Amino acid sequence: MSADLSLRDLLRNSTLPQSEARLLLAHVLEQHYQLPRSAVISQDEMRLSADALAKWKELEAKRLNGEPIAYLVGKKGFHNIELQVAPGVLIPRPETELLVEIGLREINQLGGKVSLLDLGTGSGAIALAIASAAPDSLVTATDQSAEALTIAKTNAKYLNLEGRVQFALGSWYDAISEDAIFDLILSNPPYIQKGDPHLQQGDLRFEPLGALTDQANGLRCLEAIISSASGHLNPHGLIAVEHGFDQSKAVMDLMKSAGLRDIEAHLDLAGRHRVASGRK
Ligand SMILES: C[S@@+](CC[C@H](N)C(=O)[O-])C[C@H]1O[C@@H](n2cnc3c(N)ncnc32)[C@H](O)[C@@H]1O
Repeated sequence: MSADLSLRDLLRNSTLPQSEARLLLAHVLEQHYQLPRSAVISQDEMRLSADALAKWKELEAKRLNGEPIAYLVGKKGFHNIELQVAPGVLIPRPETELLVEIGLREINQLGGKVSLLDLGTGSGAIALAIASAAPDSLVTATDQSAEALTIAKTNAKYLNLEGRVQFALGSWYDAISEDAIFDLILSNPPYIQKGDPHLQQGDLRFEPLGALTDQANGLRCLEAIISSASGHLNPHGLIAVEHGFDQSKAVMDLMKSAGLRDIEAHLDLAGRHRVASGRK
């Protein structure tokens, strides 16, 4: 009977990849027994209570059905912070850390006290990673999803960054006042084309569609953000946006058409152009 099984047996019997099974079991141990992650290994003779065992089985079944680990454990590490995530927000991706690094480099060059706008903040990933790493920065974060903003505000509180970030609800620049001006604009908008088969695969099936696709050619949100950027940037201000691996040229062309200069394509760790930047 499974109630008699040790943690080691539960892991051995699981059909999940062992790394995933260990993460989920560690979550159960943390929630039910306040044990650290290492207990999965160090206390592998332990037997779970009926409640904890039921939770393990539920999580295992959901993961086997494809639900993302981050939603099952309710958190995801990003840059130098940990964010709470739920199905109302995109799970922050490692590739978006490139946008954070570009932002921090600009902030350092400008001496720290820099105003920043994060458009489409989701869980608050970009805004909160920067607020955490650059304590003098003045950060505004927007989203058109009220659910996402609620999660982002919870994250700000949980990270002791409440008051460091202003949150605003609305579509792109409509969320802020017409004359609001920033040194830096960062955005990771929805850039997957409508009907792209990837939307039916892996984690994406469980994430909010409005965070993934523009329901058009993949460039609609990027164009809206880039075309109006100059109106909200200080002279020499920088805008940097994440885009799909095959959108670099199209995004750089949008920046040229918007009259931006010093346009650059930035490589991610996998050697692909995933961010474009330009200056007013
Ligand atoms: C790809 S997700 C990025 C979330 C977060 N910045 C990150 O990197 O993890 C895109 C975000 O843009 C938001 N969004 C979509 N359309 C928007 C619009 N018209 N105005 C503002 N935000 C929008 C979505 O709700 C979602 O949170």
